Amino acid sequence: MRRIIRAFSPSKIILFGEHAVVYGYPAIAMALNLGTRVTLKESPERSMKILSENYNIEWNVFNEEPPPIFKPFKRIIDVIAKKFPKKVNALKGIEIHISTQAPAASGLGTSASTAVAFTAAVLKYLGISLSANLINEIAYEAEKVSHGRPSGIDNYIATYGGVIKFTRSEEGPRIERLNVENELPLLLVYTGVERKTKEAVEYVAELRKKLPSFIDGIFDIIGEISERVWNMFKNRNMDLEMLGNLMNINQGLLSAIGVSSEEIEKVVFALRKAGAIGAKLTGAGIGGCVIALFKDWSKAISAKERIQRDYLCLIAKPQNRGVYVE
Ligand code: PMV
Repeated sequence: MRRIIRAFSPSKIILFGEHAVVYGYPAIAMALNLGTRVTLKESPERSMKILSENYNIEWNVFNEEPPPIFKPFKRIIDVIAKKFPKKVNALKGIEIHISTQAPAASGLGTSASTAVAFTAAVLKYLGISLSANLINEIAYEAEKVSHGRPSGIDNYIATYGGVIKFTRSEEGPRIERLNVENELPLLLVYTGVERKTKEAVEYVAELRKKLPSFIDGIFDIIGEISERVWNMFKNRNMDLEMLGNLMNINQGLLSAIGVSSEEIEKVVFALRKAGAIGAKLTGAGIGGCVIALFKDWSKAISAKERIQRDYLCLIAKPQNRGVYVE
């Protein structure tokens, strides 16, 4: 019988602290109950093929150069080949299908959830014991191919699930993780414009070079917002009104550093008009998604009915389970 391995890894939202996280300030991310499915099947051919179901593109790994969207997978295969040279020959004779649920390039961590699920499926197939740390470490290499110098927050949350406070440091990231016990009434709205992490991060880096004290002053406040919110999570004491205020302030600060856009502001204001007590972009910005908080689910649902006439609108439910393999 031909073996089939299925892996799943969650997408995520950054609740607070994007961009500041690149410079060592804390950020808060939450895994979502949508993500990437990877199906690895043994095949009778002596090749390794990777197929993206969303893009309808195929890559014959050992016979051709990867199309751009598959470059992170090449990195994963290279890293695994280096770490486990005796095992890698077994990869000739499989087909891997990739299917993502969140819109690609929307800031929901699709590249990380794909890298994590792909790594987990390949390691499992090769009979390498699945440690979350190993999966996370290899997926981070793929994230570097996708985004340049990422903080690592996306691959971490895609591996471990739940909600995390993530702080980058010289010695490696400091991470605190919790399960989410109470769902926040959150909507997720896609602006329809792709976000480009690398460009947004580079834009902020240039601005910070010109105005270091201004940008670091802004990041200080963003970091403080993340700390306050993390205390609410830790103490299981979510003050929704305060959370909404902090989202609005964080959005203003992201706008000040130049990563909002006309389209994002349109969505933010449409959501506030529809009853959101807080709304902000999530992820790198310029395009991508906006998250909005409501006092209760009934208000969130009625806003969803209005907003989804113009935009893709999802309910953002948390997921405590990280990557898993069946
Ligand atoms: O939009 P995303 O999911 O690529 O998130 C990027 C988050 C940044 O803080 C802007 C960059 C990073 O590496 O953390």
